[in-house]
Amino acid sequence: MSFKGKVVIVTGAGQGIGRGVAEAYANRGACVVVAERNEQTGNAVAESIQGMGGQASYIRCDVREEEDIQRLILESERLYGRIDILINNAGVSRFKSPDELTVEEWDDVLNTNVRSVFLASREVAKVMKRQPEGGAIVNISSTRSLMSEPNSEAYAASKGAIVSLSHALAVSYGENHIRVNCVSPGWIETGDYSALRDLDHRQHPAGRVGTPEDIARACMYFTDPDNSFVTGAHLVVDGGMTRKMIYEE
Ligand SMILES: NC(=O)c1ccc[n+]([C@@H]2O[C@H](COP(=O)([O-])OP(=O)(O)OC[C@H]3O[C@@H](n4cnc5c(N)ncnc54)[C@H](O)[C@@H]3O)[C@@H](O)[C@H]2O)c1
Repeated sequence: MSFKGKVVIVTGAGQGIGRGVAEAYANRGACVVVAERNEQTGNAVAESIQGMGGQASYIRCDVREEEDIQRLILESERLYGRIDILINNAGVSRFKSPDELTVEEWDDVLNTNVRSVFLASREVAKVMKRQPEGGAIVNISSTRSLMSEPNSEAYAASKGAIVSLSHALAVSYGENHIRVNCVSPGWIETGDYSALRDLDHRQHPAGRVGTPEDIARACMYFTDPDNSFVTGAHLVVDGGMTRKMIYEE
């Protein structure tokens, strides 16, 4: 897959999955905008891509702020003249009993994870609508949109909302040739992969824990112009974990 000449924005690309996704597109010829609230990690990722011969820019953006998102889209278009792909990846989790979760904490998780997807998609669509080829958006949800551990209410609600927001946007923007799809990662190790236990890998039907590259490949599938018939889809990338029936003995 080549993304030569494509302009790709990845939110939350300062580390983890977002960084992996940004690097994967850059390795395939894209101009990548690293959108991140942490200036240090955001700059470091853009510089590292440039150091490897790729094209990347860092734009500071706190996805909770409407003005930051508007500036991100304006600045990206000013820099590269177009925007082909948006990966809405930035997210936070907060695990706390629902009895103790405050309204401020709830709002922070929902605004970071899901209101940002609405705002960034709305703003980027203004640019993509002017492009005859349209564009493609991928929203990163989670398998926690489908199943839960205790004390994950705000995160689960935000990730479930991303799944339904994605198909709603796909339908609204279909006539503008803007495709919108959703990826739900399972366990994606963004730290020291070698520190994982055999048990961690074996509990996955696929036999291993996931990596950011697994999510990057799903994003590239959805945003490849050849896959123009794929929109409104939700792809679970979890090594089969959510398909595994568990009986406790
Ligand atoms: N790692 C996993 O196992 C996993 C599983 C399912 C879903 N996800 C989802 O994938 C996405 C990335 O996860 P990750 O594990 O790489 O997380 P991470 O915490 O390692 O990285 C998240 C990045 O987003 C940035 N960010 C947070 N709030 C932001 C804001 N308000 N504005 C701009 N940037 C902000 C952080 O600074 C960080 O660079 C998240 O949406 C997460 O919910 C991850």
